[in-house]
Amino acid sequence: MNEGLPEKPTEQWVHLNGKLTPKSEASVSIYDHGFLYGDGAFEGIRVYSGNVFKLEPHLCRLYRSAQALDINLGIDHAQLQNRVVETVRANQLESGYIRLSISRGVGLGLDPRQVAAGASIIISTEQLRLYPQEMYDQGLDVITASTRVPPAVCIDPQIKSLGRYVNNITAKMEANRVGAGEALMLNMVGNVAEATGDNVFLVKHGEIITPPTSDGALPGITRQVVMDLAKDMGITCRQLTITLYDVYNADEAFLTGTAAEVIAMTKCDNRRIGDGKPGSLTQRIINAFRAITAVDGVKV
Ligand SMILES: Cc1ncc(COP(=O)(O)O)c(C=O)c1O
Repeated sequence: MNEGLPEKPTEQWVHLNGKLTPKSEASVSIYDHGFLYGDGAFEGIRVYSGNVFKLEPHLCRLYRSAQALDINLGIDHAQLQNRVVETVRANQLESGYIRLSISRGVGLGLDPRQVAAGASIIISTEQLRLYPQEMYDQGLDVITASTRVPPAVCIDPQIKSLGRYVNNITAKMEANRVGAGEALMLNMVGNVAEATGDNVFLVKHGEIITPPTSDGALPGITRQVVMDLAKDMGITCRQLTITLYDVYNADEAFLTGTAAEVIAMTKCDNRRIGDGKPGSLTQRIINAFRAITAVDGVKV
């Protein structure tokens, strides 16, 4: 992707409301609704070897979030896709992370009629590695957070909204306090919804199970990739309600997310899951995931 481009830029660029802006100058208004009220949504997207991975599904999910929040982005998929690609190109990002954040716009007061300009749309890129390699080798030690995923009648967890993440951050702090790698979050009836930044999968009797979005799981892009890979590999994958009992008694477990990718969960609430090591089916999924990220995506 570096062909014809100058040497790696020292300045990084942010796509700020339609304009590539030096990162050092990129800022949002103190009255941006995202900042004031968490009134917006976002996507975290990966670039692997110069390919933006699953860009279209990420953009579709963002538009679904915007539609649910009644935020008009003012640009269509193709234009937004161009902006993402332009940002990655400007930063000559070969592999890394794209953060695409939107908010309703700028205006003091929660009444959306006081939001003057159009939606804020901000695209930036970063280098990223979420967990140290040893955690991928050994698997994650996870706890169950006391902080719950809100029910869909309050703020639908299918919306990747900025505001809902106060809950996830609180749950993450619970994990941090006890030195755990992640926290599982339950829904209001006590079933497992997801982790603070990842979807949850269990392996039982050679089959894969993940909670349905109606139990509070984000419709994760990596989750969908894993479900598709499992199908291709002839592994049955079901969306089923799961309890902590199911987690503790799983043969294997793993988490999926754009940032974490696919990572084994080998301990939960002090219980060893399976034999306490990343399982063989988990490893097969990880290998298949790595293989697809190496070839799939929108070329930059
Ligand atoms: C709460 C939550 N669940 C699940 C995921 C995984 O989703 P994806 O695979 O689309 O990154 C994320 C990350 O975006 C998340 O924040």
